[in-house]
Amino acid sequence: MCGIIGCVGRPDETLGVLIHGLSKLEYRGYDSAGVALAGTEGTVGIESTVDIEKRAGKLENLRGALDGVSMPGSVGIGHTRWSTHGPPTDRNAHPHPDCEGNVAVLHNGIIENFQEIRDELVADGHDFRSDTDTEVVPHLIEEALQDGANPEEAFREAVSRIEGSYAIAAVFADTEAVFCARQDSPLVLGLDADAYYLASDVPAFRDYTDRVVYMDDGEFARLDPEGWAVTDASGEPVEKEPHVVEWDAEETGKSGYDHYMMKEIHEQPRTLRECLRGRVDELGDQVQLEEFAGLAPPSSVQFVACGTSYHAALYGAQLFREAGVPAQAFLASEYRTSPPPIGNNLVIGVTQSGETADTLSALREASRRGASTLAVTNVIGSSAARECDHALYIRAGPEIGVAASKTFASQLAALNVLALATTRSADSRAAIGALRDLPSDVQAVLDESASESVAREYIDADAYFFIGRGYQYPVALEGALKMKEITYKHAEGFAAGELKHGPLALVTERTPVIAIAVGDGDAAGKTVGNIKEVEARNAPVIAVTDGRSGVERYADHVLPVPESHPRTAAVTASVQLQLLAYHSAAQLDRSIDKPRNLAKSVTVE
Ligand code: M6R
Repeated sequence: MCGIIGCVGRPDETLGVLIHGLSKLEYRGYDSAGVALAGTEGTVGIESTVDIEKRAGKLENLRGALDGVSMPGSVGIGHTRWSTHGPPTDRNAHPHPDCEGNVAVLHNGIIENFQEIRDELVADGHDFRSDTDTEVVPHLIEEALQDGANPEEAFREAVSRIEGSYAIAAVFADTEAVFCARQDSPLVLGLDADAYYLASDVPAFRDYTDRVVYMDDGEFARLDPEGWAVTDASGEPVEKEPHVVEWDAEETGKSGYDHYMMKEIHEQPRTLRECLRGRVDELGDQVQLEEFAGLAPPSSVQFVACGTSYHAALYGAQLFREAGVPAQAFLASEYRTSPPPIGNNLVIGVTQSGETADTLSALREASRRGASTLAVTNVIGSSAARECDHALYIRAGPEIGVAASKTFASQLAALNVLALATTRSADSRAAIGALRDLPSDVQAVLDESASESVAREYIDADAYFFIGRGYQYPVALEGALKMKEITYKHAEGFAAGELKHGPLALVTERTPVIAIAVGDGDAAGKTVGNIKEVEARNAPVIAVTDGRSGVERYADHVLPVPESHPRTAAVTASVQLQLLAYHSAAQLDRSIDKPRNLAKSVTVE
């Protein structure tokens, strides 16, 4: 959840590099932000020989506090927080010092045994200044230093005491090095000619280097002006292979759009093309997944995922079932609580970030019980990609807006290819042709959407209901999630047939119902029947349709999508719903890219 950056080797620019890195990581949490610089004598902030400055609220507050302040340290660490222990206040913001201010520590994750350690340290006379679990670490380091350990040994000893999940980093007064360690929280090193970085995610330092080293669980790293070294828990050197990231820094800018989300919505024709490149042929009659050439067709499939990715998983399960393969989607957070029989299942984790704690934990559980696992993810080198037996990359490029948009579209496209390539689907020709045409179909929606005026018309609505059947059911759920997370208005998605089993009681003239009805098949026909029920209760109806079901007759507004296969129409329909949510949120002047209380990457269970 939180974002971490560290920098060594840019002596005159450390603070600027940290703040720039934090601005690229703010999507991971934005309750508070802070920096600590060391390697030279402290000059500002709380009484400390490591300079620390931190502020509650968005990064802007920290920038304001630093205005005109000189922090000349030659090494540093920075943090943007999504609170778990303690409210988002200045004192709970990271980094945290020890009693003497000789050490500063920041952390992403949860320290499960912090209370017992804290009680012990308080009994030993340590002075705690925050409510966080993290603060035990600088005090543990302080104890080890007092016992004669050097900074690296003290850091290692403190980390060995904590249980839970962490990407953790520390700087020490008069020590020109940054120390870090990882367990169940992402951490990546950036390698430049004469500077080194650490971060929760590559965009934090992508402007400076494209060479990265992904750290694994249980590993420690030391970065200093002479170089970098990774060791295991016992201090033995670990050989790490640097990778080159393929996307450039431009991709993490807004390119003239007001918000990342709008930029990312408009990137979809390109990112879908990228997802399908080399996987669907030009003629639209073949799919191939080279990476799975040797993978036996699954006899049954379980999906695990959260949030938007869970909606993609529901859709994926339907693709497999339609191809005759038993398949079910599970909320990853529930999977371990009530584990289903594993049988011969291939367990597929759908996760944009590849770092979602609930999804990783479900995948680990499946693997522990003998299942073969596959990650459908956007992030090369992510935990899911590395831990699963197989990885399928959705190739959507970095997504900064907290609300998933282009990655949902690419998840659906990649799942289509996966299902078609690993099963013998009766209807494959039409589905493959529709996939080939998908990028241009999405472009057509972007060119002509009337979503902005529809959003304006219903901006005062009490609630928004989204309904769909078959492939359009997960799209309805996703449309409602987009609407609620960025507008803060009540929105729910339902299987269209369920409306009359309860939710219809909520329907009034102030609750627009957004109905997705594509094609002329049974699902669309029955959805039209459900729309009539809504219309009879005077609720406004917004139809997302290709016009083949006749639903327009009952709709107050139409958001059109091109005629295509119901599977790919699910993608174009979701683009209309992304735009509807975006324009509603823009008219309400919401914080679209960083909705309140949310974070992009949820690395705690
Ligand atoms: O990185 P993941 O796909 O595993 O993230 C799972 C959810 O947290 C995520 O899909 C979330 O629901 C979306 N950002 C909401 O738009």
